[in-house]
Amino acid sequence: MEFTFDVNDILKYEITKITPTMIPPGFTGDRRKLWDTQNKLSDIINTMGEASAAAQGLTKPITTADKLKNSEHTLYLLVDPKGTKGKGSVMGLLKMGHKGLYVFDREGEHHQLQPLCVLDFYVHEAMQRMGLGKKIFEHMLKEENIEPVKLAIDRPSEKFLGFLKKHYGLSGAIPQMNNFVVFDGFFTKSKQAAGTPERQNNNNSQSSNVSPTKTQNGCHTTSPFGRYGAPRPPCSMGQIIHNHSPTVQPTEPSRW
Ligand code: ACO
Repeated sequence: MEFTFDVNDILKYEITKITPTMIPPGFTGDRRKLWDTQNKLSDIINTMGEASAAAQGLTKPITTADKLKNSEHTLYLLVDPKGTKGKGSVMGLLKMGHKGLYVFDREGEHHQLQPLCVLDFYVHEAMQRMGLGKKIFEHMLKEENIEPVKLAIDRPSEKFLGFLKKHYGLSGAIPQMNNFVVFDGFFTKSKQAAGTPERQNNNNSQSSNVSPTKTQNGCHTTSPFGRYGAPRPPCSMGQIIHNHSPTVQPTEPSRW
């Protein structure tokens, strides 16, 4: 993706990790330069987010600069420094973030977790199937110190499912009642934790501990978040097993 300004001035590395501060690593300069850099960075993020949405057939982008600023998400941007006659071009994005989810294991037991999730993933059409997706994904795995099987994937496309199978041998998703996909190996044998590193759902704590808590009917008390903000069903599995009428009616806050 080409821009009128010098991308290499803003994104100084082949893969740059952008946090909600919107200050790219390696930035130096005064407030005025920061303002200019952040405007250009917003342009990059919004353009890439729109391209990703178009590639996935979505009506609205999942990734925008404003959403990133108001989140705890992390965005990885892949740059070709030689592109656009040496000004640099942007080839891909990968957005990651923790989400509060209900996740079913193979036994049908559900867990309230905050796994790290793949939220948006895109490589420019002209450069797909050339190993660039793997390059950015591998960088993220190292940076986040996580195995692919511990990730939850927000409504993966067929291409992304193929990618996960080819590069990481992931197939046979465990059926879920939301748009997220997890694979065998996501849950630890102790059934205590999954998708490490995770966080407890109190005050957005950064703790990596997990202790899923349940209400008496086996339901959990916070709402999950889905890719399209679809309403979540009540905890029907717990109700059926325990023959209880619903006592928890999760409301679905809009993700974006
Ligand atoms: N058709 C089928 N499989 C594909 C395709 C395609 N057009 N493109 C990539 N893949 C899969 C295949 O397994 C392929 O291996 P193969 O060529 O041997 O069949 C493998 O990915 C290639 O790996 P990379 O080259 O490392 O991946 P790439 O650079 O193509 O990036 C990505 C993968 C990001 C999924 C890219 O194809 C893309 O941007 N697709 C369009 C947008 C999209 O679907 N994003 C994921 C949405 S879901 C989410 O974000 C949570």
